[in-house]
Amino acid sequence: MRVTMIGTGYVGLVSGACFADFGHEVVCVDKDETKIEKLEAGVMPIYEPGLEALVAENVKAGRLSFSTDLTSVPNADAVFIAVGTPSRRGDGFADLSYVYNASEEIARVLEGYTVVVTKSTVPVGTGTEVEQIIKKTNAGAEFSVVSNPEFLREGAAIQDFKRPDRVVVGAEDDRAIKVMRELYRPLYINETPIVFTNRSTSELIKYAANAFLATKITFINEVADLCEKVGANVQEVAKGIGLDGRIGSKFLHAGPGYGGSCFPKDTLALVRTAQSVNAPARIVETVVEVNDARKKQMADRVIAACGGSIEGKTIGVLGLTFKPNTDDMRDSPAIDIVSALQSAGAKISAYDPAGVEEAKLVLNDVDYVEGPYQALEGADAVVIITEWDEFRALDLERVKSLMKAPIMVDLRNIYRPAEMAEHGFEYSSIGRPA
Ligand code: UGA
Repeated sequence: MRVTMIGTGYVGLVSGACFADFGHEVVCVDKDETKIEKLEAGVMPIYEPGLEALVAENVKAGRLSFSTDLTSVPNADAVFIAVGTPSRRGDGFADLSYVYNASEEIARVLEGYTVVVTKSTVPVGTGTEVEQIIKKTNAGAEFSVVSNPEFLREGAAIQDFKRPDRVVVGAEDDRAIKVMRELYRPLYINETPIVFTNRSTSELIKYAANAFLATKITFINEVADLCEKVGANVQEVAKGIGLDGRIGSKFLHAGPGYGGSCFPKDTLALVRTAQSVNAPARIVETVVEVNDARKKQMADRVIAACGGSIEGKTIGVLGLTFKPNTDDMRDSPAIDIVSALQSAGAKISAYDPAGVEEAKLVLNDVDYVEGPYQALEGADAVVIITEWDEFRALDLERVKSLMKAPIMVDLRNIYRPAEMAEHGFEYSSIGRPA
């Protein structure tokens, strides 16, 4: 099948490359000329394991190409809209201007029956709006609008695309369903469930999924705080509840609060939509509030570990991105934590394996260093914010010898308290007895 993917951001690029790898003929389109030039030269705009090789293979095989215009649309069986839907400044509703612009531009060049698919995360009703825009712009166009949300995780996106738990398709007619079935036919071999719904349901599934996962994380984070007060261990609580199939063991890692390009934006958008139709989502409202406060509170743990003041002290920071295996800094807890530590008078020396360039755009006056040990040299305390693999087996004796004081605040629970005590660290973590 012939696919045009509008938007070469995270979702568009990964989906485009994976569809091409399934054997479809894909053109990825972006208005950003530099981005397209770089992609044509094999340079990825994001850090995602395996993506560069996947793109290169499919370009070589002639199934994947890049363009700054919409010349591929008239021949496409399906045109995906995968442009950004950021939080609208001021009110938190999803900003749909990029989606609507793309719809209008696609409409002008549609030829023959085409399925227009919204892959971007869009509030309920957006599909209908897209349909109206296309009809208004090109009255004779023969098309269907389908919702097909993505559930990719950064850092594991290719695997998530190729072996998903499910694919959700919101379509209103059989002709569109047939095209979508054909597109995802390569997944039949893995018996991937394809959930067909109407468009509004599909749009809501995406928000409900992210809001539920954000709630699960926030729940376990609050349980972690409770554990600290009563001498319980949150990892064991998570295991104890997670083995119940109704609860499930995933997304129960307590930490500094969720961040990233999706949960913060999508929870807020769900809250706003729910308020606007007078069906307030009070649980999700609370999740948003609790998570925002949590990210800010994390700095207090470092201050407490340092005896109540960090004025003039140096704090070594390991990990800045919102999670490992990405260079994404959007809404990373590190932003709140580092800023709060700086406001409390500390100097920051930080290392991240992939996120430094992005971090420089949002965090100033930080000494960005080349490796984990450099970040600890002369530090009064170290805080682990992101659980990159390379932080899991640090040479603890070396760490201790480099630091001014052996104080470690581990916000991802990657070390065992007993082991840290053996090595003479004053170690604190999340929801576990010292
Ligand atoms: C999330 C969803 O997991 C994807 O299914 C979805 O497609 C994507 O949003 C999206 O809407 O595009 P992502 O933001 O890449 O994916 O990352 P996650 O792995 O879900 O992590 C999100 C945040 O939650 C991170 O800050 C992470 O550290 C935190 N988290 C996750 C925890 O604190 N504890 C956990 O147990 C799991």
